Amino acid sequence: MEDIWLGYSRGRLNRIFPKVKKEIDVMIIDKKTEDDGVIMMSIKSEEDSNLSQTDSKDKNTDSEKDHVTILAIESSCDETAAAVVRNGREVLSNIISSQIALHTVYGGVVPEIASRKHVEKINYCVREALSQADLTLEDIDAIAVTYGPGLVGALLVGVSEAKALSFATGIPLIGVHHIEGHISANYIENKDLEPPFVCLVVSGGHSHLVVVKDYGVYDIIGQTRDDAAGEAFDKVARAIGLGYPGGPKIDKAARDGDENAISFPTAKIADAEYDFSFSGLKSAVLNYINIKGMQGEEFNKNDLAASFQKAVVDVLTEHAIRAVKQYGYDKLAIAGGVASNTGLRQSLEKACKDNNIRFYRPSPVLCTDNAAMIGAAGYYEYMKGERADLSLNAVPNLPLGDRERRFHGRSSQK
Ligand code: KG4
Ligand code: ZN
Repeated sequence: MEDIWLGYSRGRLNRIFPKVKKEIDVMIIDKKTEDDGVIMMSIKSEEDSNLSQTDSKDKNTDSEKDHVTILAIESSCDETAAAVVRNGREVLSNIISSQIALHTVYGGVVPEIASRKHVEKINYCVREALSQADLTLEDIDAIAVTYGPGLVGALLVGVSEAKALSFATGIPLIGVHHIEGHISANYIENKDLEPPFVCLVVSGGHSHLVVVKDYGVYDIIGQTRDDAAGEAFDKVARAIGLGYPGGPKIDKAARDGDENAISFPTAKIADAEYDFSFSGLKSAVLNYINIKGMQGEEFNKNDLAASFQKAVVDVLTEHAIRAVKQYGYDKLAIAGGVASNTGLRQSLEKACKDNNIRFYRPSPVLCTDNAAMIGAAGYYEYMKGERADLSLNAVPNLPLGDRERRFHGRSSQK
């Protein structure tokens, strides 16, 4: 595979990208495809690049005492990631090793391949994250790691790495919930965002409407009864031959399609007004494809993608806006891989404007899995005195907001 190098050198981002626009907060500054097909990326914002330069210079001075620097590790699915995050909001480095190309061949994530690649890449990612932040482990105040939910074998790699580093150095360990990480991605580029707010979490495994009452305090007011939103995107993409991962491919195809071409149903759940259901929509799409096949008729894939996307976006938008209004908040954030969907971002942007709601969304590259978001969530856990000990284990079905079950054998240093 061809190597793609965008080129990057510390502090020279402006010279390399002289036309960087203000609204592009975060950008991929290194991207290369390795011999085994894994894509290695380094991500940094212009602002954070400047910050880290200044900060790293005075890291040995007294001002360092004001900083909490977290090394974060994420390996819950098919991205091996490590990042260094300062005070929960400044990303000093953000390394993502994506296995997507490897799993594409199989039409979805193969857990054994994911675990093996995590083992191969994790040390490199951690070393690179420290090196790009110009720091060593001595500068790190805590190690935050995703310990659930996710694929157990994949989670175990990150958890074992974090525990080994913590054991060897004595640096405190913090267990982070993956979805809490996704929600916290919003803090990175929105320095003004503070709870309470409503967050729509839409990823490959989750579709939740959450009231973020405080840092790390969540009230789940709605969730999917069946498929997650991302799962529906992936299944529909596979059915129309777009391949894996489906979300970005449907998103792209939808831009060239007519969203009103086909009318697909959206489910309403009578006894739980904020819950979602996407399996009926998925079946409707599959039926449409089958009927067209039986009738020997062609259909326009772009129109189907646009019409399906509209059905998902409409229900997500309607639920989210109603929740913000009904619960009396004025801020809506979005999180998870599907939050990078162009149609969803546009729809929520407009609906929020119409309803006087402030709309927060991470850059697309911070919506999908990364470790910077784990560092942001880990910081707020750290500040509360939450610590995990070496009995921390991977919990594949970890519920959000269940603090007692969250930390296995945790100890508190208040
Ligand atoms: O958050 P994420 O990276 O991993 C999980 O925690 O699940 O989300 C991955 C999901 C996949 O289902 C993928 O198809 C979907 O997010 N996704 C998208 C887009 N980009 C990723 N869905 C719709 N539009 C996109 N642009
Ligand atoms: Zn995720």
